[in-house]
Amino acid sequence: MLKPGLSPGPGLGYHGPNLEVNLAKRATIFVCQNCGASQPKWLGRCPSCQSWDSLVEEPGAPAAAGPAGPPAATLPLAGALERPERRLASGLAELDRVLGGGLVAGMVVLVGGEPGIGKSTLMLQAAESLGAAGGRVLYVTAEESARQVGLRANRLGLAGAGVELLADTSLEPILGTMAAGGFTAVVVDSIQALKSGELGSAPGAVGQVRHCAAELAALAKELGSALFLVGHVTKEGALAGPRVLEHLVDTVLYFESEPAMRLRILRAVKNRFGATDEVGVFEMTSRGLAAVDNPSAVFLAHRPRAAPGSAVCAALSGTRPLLVEVQALVSPSGLAMPRRQALGVDPGRLHMLCAVLAIHAGRDLSAHDVFVNVAGGIRLAEPAADLAVAAAVASSLAGRPLPAEVVCFGEVGLAGELRAVSRASARLSEARRQGFTRALTAPGKPLDPPGLTLLTARRLDEALELLLD
Ligand code: TYD
Ligand code: MG
Repeated sequence: MLKPGLSPGPGLGYHGPNLEVNLAKRATIFVCQNCGASQPKWLGRCPSCQSWDSLVEEPGAPAAAGPAGPPAATLPLAGALERPERRLASGLAELDRVLGGGLVAGMVVLVGGEPGIGKSTLMLQAAESLGAAGGRVLYVTAEESARQVGLRANRLGLAGAGVELLADTSLEPILGTMAAGGFTAVVVDSIQALKSGELGSAPGAVGQVRHCAAELAALAKELGSALFLVGHVTKEGALAGPRVLEHLVDTVLYFESEPAMRLRILRAVKNRFGATDEVGVFEMTSRGLAAVDNPSAVFLAHRPRAAPGSAVCAALSGTRPLLVEVQALVSPSGLAMPRRQALGVDPGRLHMLCAVLAIHAGRDLSAHDVFVNVAGGIRLAEPAADLAVAAAVASSLAGRPLPAEVVCFGEVGLAGELRAVSRASARLSEARRQGFTRALTAPGKPLDPPGLTLLTARRLDEALELLLD
């Protein structure tokens, strides 16, 4: 932290006594976000790399390093290994799932999302359940008054035990409260509304956001409190939003809406303490966010019956098996380079699958546009989705629906072969739970899920024959 009265770096001393007094009060520099060059004052254009509007206020550089100090205490790695990581459940199972199994002391989590998506609601509900479990939670409300938060808590039917509210926008008293309080968790709603007295810029400016977040994170690590920073992103994914914080936090969660299904999806895009392919699925109700118990059923609810181009994939979303619908539309193209568009699956993977379909399964797509979408805003990052994508594309091209009671999963190789994927039995059990009676995948370990007929194919063309003929 910058202490008031910190003297400016040695390079700034020649400006004369007046300026020095000024700088001593607010020792900040302006750093180009493009090339890293620093300037003593703000300029519209960086003199070094000529980029416009790239200078951002930052705390001034510390004085040059002096002679080496006394040795610091080191910790043998073996000593560090002995301490098992303890997880504390927040009480919201879907949040804990996305965090990788609960909170870790000192973890810093950024919760981003568009305004109105439900970030404050989620944080308040998490604070309530942590408090109810005996934790102490500091809820810093920098955008809304304590009364507004109270009204929301009332609407949500919360009791509020163990949760302290602090309605403030200045960083320094918040740090002081954190240091004095012994809190299990601290929520800052939102980081863009905070202002440090050490910087002259307005709340929400990149320099402010970054400085406040860095100070809060450093203190939380020291105290062992879990820290949640709420940040808004605009529809355009605004640059001045929380993106600038992604590197200084442990975990980045994005809260997104799926309007067609009235769902809220919480996903980790970075997690030092867990996987990033885990999603939490919520529903916004009149009494706040409720976990969706059976997401597969919700994702399949709007599936068209007997429509070409729709395949059900038994996917794995993190640790949870999830059935999702993959939709494809193949239409004649007048373009020399037909379009390939993928939402929810990797576009490169779609190109590859189109090539494999053409070469190894006799389905020429060179005169067709191909659009693929995964229903429900789910992203299928695993190759296990290949078979469902290829089947949906082939079904749309043929104009024939796939059998409604079949789920499929499996990786497609460049030689047109089908490969077995991990956790097949978990996928099959989920398929059975959702009422599917047949599953198609690559031959692998013998699996015998009761109530489900397992079809296997060694090659993509064999699989498509089973599905479409
Ligand atoms: P909010 O948590 O304030 O969103 P954010 O902090 O991300 O801006 O709430 C988002 C919306 O949720 C708001 O428009 C009202 C609605 N809502 C409900 O439908 N039910 C509820 O119980 C609550 C608290 C909010
Ligand atoms: Mg809010």
